[in-house]
Amino acid sequence: MIEIAIDGTAASGKGTLARKLAEKYNFIYLDTGLLYRKVANELIIKKKNISNDLEYHSSVIARNLNFLEIKKEDLRSEETAKLASLIATHPKLREILNLKQKEFVEENKKKFSGCILDGRDIGTKILPNANFKFFIDASIEVRAKRRLLEKNISFLHEKDEKCMLQFLIKQMNDRDKLDIKRSISPLVPADDAYVIDTTFIDADELFLKVTKIIDEI
Ligand code: C5P
Repeated sequence: MIEIAIDGTAASGKGTLARKLAEKYNFIYLDTGLLYRKVANELIIKKKNISNDLEYHSSVIARNLNFLEIKKEDLRSEETAKLASLIATHPKLREILNLKQKEFVEENKKKFSGCILDGRDIGTKILPNANFKFFIDASIEVRAKRRLLEKNISFLHEKDEKCMLQFLIKQMNDRDKLDIKRSISPLVPADDAYVIDTTFIDADELFLKVTKIIDEI
């Protein structure tokens, strides 16, 4: 099975890239951030006291996680993302979710000729022997603008838009810092990853760049 590992910062374009590659090559795709977001969302719904044994509560939820129940649209809020990033610093939770990701790959080996996983530690931890590793990044301003566009708020006044953009920049910066600085599986490019900056290129150009690398090899 061909393995493609895609890591990178929030809103860098890695998710769109992963989806497009999965479609082109007919590979199975897993957005691993959704697992962390799902656990965070369950904590919010169940109103678990987040300062009180967060690692225990998130681990219980993670153990019972059913991939089929994860619905992306429920999980996109920055509140969920912030908590996801916080619980992602806990070794026990990561251990459980790492196992689930590896099981997912194993289970799909017979059904698909390739798999694509995107996240923060795919090339370094989950698929260390992946055939292709990509690390996607872009400037924080460009990434925040993409997030704002995703929210589809076309009625915003210019002043409110600027304000929201600043807010998003702060939120995303805080989250990146936590992901990069944590001691367990921090967000870093694998030594053998292709590092691509998408500040000045759009999703189609990124897709072309990556498929050129894959198809040449
Ligand atoms: O990719 P997404 O923004 O949905 O991920 C939410 C959070 O989950 C990240 O900020 C990160 O803290 C955590 N995560 C992780 N390892 C992964 C995927 C996501 O630590 N493989």
